Amino acid sequence: MTKATAVAHPNIAFVKYWGRIDDDLNLPANPSLSMNLAALRTVTTVEFRPELRSDRIVIDGAPASGQAARRVMLHLDRVRAMAGLKGWAQVVSRNDFPAGTGLASSSSAFAALSAAGSQAAGLALDERSLSRLARLGSGSACRSVPAGFCLWQGKHDETSWACQVAPPDHWALHDVIAIVSRTPKSVSSGEGHSLAPTSPFYQARLQTIPELLEQVHRAVVDRDLDALGRAMERDALAMHGVMMTSQPSLLYWRPETLVVLDAVRAWRSEGLAVYFTLDAGPNVHCLCRGSDVADVGARLRDLPGVVDVLVSGPGAGVRLVVDHLF
Ligand code: PMV
Repeated sequence: MTKATAVAHPNIAFVKYWGRIDDDLNLPANPSLSMNLAALRTVTTVEFRPELRSDRIVIDGAPASGQAARRVMLHLDRVRAMAGLKGWAQVVSRNDFPAGTGLASSSSAFAALSAAGSQAAGLALDERSLSRLARLGSGSACRSVPAGFCLWQGKHDETSWACQVAPPDHWALHDVIAIVSRTPKSVSSGEGHSLAPTSPFYQARLQTIPELLEQVHRAVVDRDLDALGRAMERDALAMHGVMMTSQPSLLYWRPETLVVLDAVRAWRSEGLAVYFTLDAGPNVHCLCRGSDVADVGARLRDLPGVVDVLVSGPGAGVRLVVDHLF
């Protein structure tokens, strides 16, 4: 058996995935479109070792336990089943950004685990198969497999994978992320997806998706930040509306989140082209042109409650590397 290491970037969705038509297969209730984030990375090394008596998983320097460990083991089981393999695995994974705080760490985590795990098991998966496999670990992970701007659609296991809409060098769009909290969220997105249909606004949001997706797709192709931003903000607020009105209600925002949203709107009314979106967490992703990154970053740092600012342009897809973590 070989040891394999993969690098993947998390992605930020402009049209979000929220709610599933199949919980076990992670089949989404709606298509979504995203951008990989070059500046944020997960590196994962996997090796199947005959002498082990169970999977050994270390994430960010600590042995994984509970739900995190179970999700990785379940994913390794999928890889073992595909490869017809019996041995246990050693997995070491490292994020260079805070995990579980709305920075979509599960997207890069399962993209990297799928690429390293399948390679270590002797499988040679093409991009589509890798995207499908990553989707089973975490839905959004399928969008971290191709490079750049990616579209995930398909309603069946065989057809649900992400493909590239545009490569990373197509558009120097930047995500300037206002970190207002590094505390991991108390309700995972997995649980959130299951709660989504309990919101009275769930179906209403789903009805808006075809039009928003078309607008976002066209805006990415045309490099039209204003069109992208308008549609992206509408969908982020609709998704959080569904979250807030689920039973039980999910409120991922902090008071500082609202401070950032308010400021972004004020800056825009002054002529600065910047638009927000948020994943299942309190941190705010502010999308702007490369030429405005310094200005947007400086303004965000000055806001009360913003503890850090991360900046990223469009990122590559998942790939194997030769430097192993063990
Ligand atoms: O892949 P999951 O199950 O962590 O769900 C991701 C959900 C959002 O990040 C909120 C939206 C998205 O499309 O990435």
